[in-house]
Formats: sequence, C-alpha cells, structure tokens
Amino acid sequence: MTVLIAYATSEGQTRKIARHIADRIADGGGAVELVHVADAEEIELGRFDRVILAGSIHIGHYQRALSDFAARYADQLNSRATLFVSVSLAAAGHDADDWNGFEPILDDFKAATGWTPGHVAQVAGAYQPSRYDIFRRFVMRRIVASKQPAGTDLDADKEYTDWPALDALVDGWIRTPAQ
Ligand SMILES: Cc1cc2nc3c(=O)[nH]c(=O)nc-3n(C[C@H](O)[C@H](O)[C@H](O)COP(=O)(O)O)c2cc1C
Repeated sequence: MTVLIAYATSEGQTRKIARHIADRIADGGGAVELVHVADAEEIELGRFDRVILAGSIHIGHYQRALSDFAARYADQLNSRATLFVSVSLAAAGHDADDWNGFEPILDDFKAATGWTPGHVAQVAGAYQPSRYDIFRRFVMRRIVASKQPAGTDLDADKEYTDWPALDALVDGWIRTPAQ
C-alpha cells in the first residue's frame, strides 16, 4: 500500500504528528511519502492508494497552504481513501465552545476546498510558548491560564498528543476498506 501524508504546521506539532504516522505506517509495511503541502505542488496523487492530510487550527482556521492544496486536488482526494488529521488544543479536552467548536471550522474547510474527507481525526496538539512570538504568547497564556489549575507554569511547553491513541487510530484507518 502506498500512502501520501501532506501536512501544514505553524509551530511544528503537526509535523511531529505526521512523522509519527509515517513511521507507524512504514513499520506496518506500507510505502509512505511525507511532504509539507508547500513542497507538494506537482505531486501525482494517482500514485497513492491512500492520502492523509494534516493541519492545525489557529484562531478557528486551518493553514491557508493546506486549504490551497486540498482545493487543488479535491477531485482526486474525493475519489480515494482519505484521512484528515485536525490538530488543535480543543481536542486536548479544553472546552470546545471556547474555541468555537470543531464542526463549523471543518464545515468552512470543506466548503472552501470542495474536499470531503473520508475520515476525520481530531488530535490534541501542544502548547508551546517557547515557539510563540510575543503576541501569540500573550493570547495563548490567557486562554490556557483559564483552563489550567492555579499555579500551572504557563511558560513551560506541554504536549497533549496521545501517541498510543494516534497509533490505534492510524491502524484502524489503514485496515478500513477504501470507499
Ligand atoms: C495563535 C494560536 C491560535 C490558536 N487557535 C486555536 C483555536 O482556535 N482552536 C484550537 O483548538 N487550538 C488553537 N490553537 C492551538 C493549536 O492548534 C495547537 O497549539 C497545535 O498544536 C498547533 O499545531 P502546529 O504546531 O502544528 O501548528 C492555537 C494556537 C496558537 C499559537
């Protein structure tokens, strides 16, 4: 089985998740190509049995480069087995209402791109103040502070990604018959 994984990332956690998925599929005997969407301009999707797209939510939107890629390849994506890995902090258990919820964000993405993913996985990302500029640090500290117990170190990076759960999800998707 040949699998393309195309991802977009702002602070790096989705790249780490995409690499982890690639290793998992390769360990299971699959042939995997892992690319950042910006480097996938001329990619031939017909070469792949399955495609995974991964991106992260920032202020209620996925990366523009990810939407552009999905829109460009929507017809081919819609005709093969696909998985959309949506990375966010809302998926870490923070109150989804505070982040506007997943559904409208996903609906906007589908409407903008014309791609309807075969499966969607909401995956918890990371809080990474060490990678934020001053504006992002300010915004994120306020949001995360309101969710964490008093005394939490808001300057420390924290990874919420549940790696065993991600492995189980990927294994299940790979075994799912193509539509
Ligand atoms: C400026 C900023 C805005 C964010 N907005 C949201 C959001 O609207 N909803 C959400 O669930 N997570 C939000 N997050 C959390 C990110 O989705 C999370 O940190 C994710 O791991 C980022 O993945 P990346 O490192 O691949 O970009 C935001 C993070 C930052 C820095």
